[in-house]
Amino acid sequence: MKVTVVGAGAVGASCAEYIAMKNFCSEVVLVDIKEGFAEGKAMDLMQTAPLNGFDTKIKGTTGDYSKTAGSKVAVITSGIPRKPGMTREELIGINAGIVKEVTENLVKHSPEVIIIVVSNPMDTMAYLVHKTSGLPKERIIGMGGALDSARFKYRLAEALDCPISDVEGMVIAAHSDTGMVPLISKATRNGVPVTEFLDAEKIAYVTEETKVGGATLTKLLGTSAWYAPGAAVSTLVQSIVCDQKKMIPCSLMLDGEYGQSDICLGVPAIIGKNGVEKIVEIQLTDEEKAKFEAAAKAVKEVNSDLKF
Ligand code: LAC
Repeated sequence: MKVTVVGAGAVGASCAEYIAMKNFCSEVVLVDIKEGFAEGKAMDLMQTAPLNGFDTKIKGTTGDYSKTAGSKVAVITSGIPRKPGMTREELIGINAGIVKEVTENLVKHSPEVIIIVVSNPMDTMAYLVHKTSGLPKERIIGMGGALDSARFKYRLAEALDCPISDVEGMVIAAHSDTGMVPLISKATRNGVPVTEFLDAEKIAYVTEETKVGGATLTKLLGTSAWYAPGAAVSTLVQSIVCDQKKMIPCSLMLDGEYGQSDICLGVPAIIGKNGVEKIVEIQLTDEEKAKFEAAAKAVKEVNSDLKF
């Protein structure tokens, strides 16, 4: 099974590395526009194979999309990352043109492909891929919720002072500093609601730190994060390639679900060999519903800046 990752920067290379390390697909093709860069990253990663024990072949190409032909999944990480102090939304102008062109190249060589969108602003870039690719909606997935939920679990485990494997939780709505909705009402430690262990102040802290998770890292690193984004992508790709049917929140085109249409927004879904097997509608509290609606309004405003 072939998987393509477009963009061999830090996020793209991390995606390729984690996919290869999990050893579930035969080939990963890394594509970049910078001469020799994807080839170099691929070679470096391939030289870790005998050390890390994977058989996935990683190949690199400078913009030759014929090498991506027949991909089951393609991940779009291309575009510029944010700098400290920038919002994801400020990247729209440059990244929209890049994502549109990459999408056209991918679909031309792999008409059956399932696309995972990572480039920011992620919900709007996923929407752009829907509008420009002609692919069925089940085959376009924005990865935000998978990443944001991992950051939520990290903050929950920190507040609970417990192992992360004890914690379950999801983040829905937008992949933005203001539009994320960490579902405190559904978060548990081994099935026990976290509200039984954490007071209001701690819950507010977890919620806020989750929402600005990406911004916190951008400030520390001087550019946006890559390990957790790469791992989040690899989880989505594995659920597709191995038909695991995991329930993962991600940014999907809504057609009446959660009261929204013509928008990509983070909702829980079953991810399997066909891409989105099913959007899962869960009961939200009134407060969560209001926040989801506010996030939808903000994303629609950003979407209105797109020119197709
Ligand atoms: C982040 C980027 C990938 O949140 O949006 O780190």
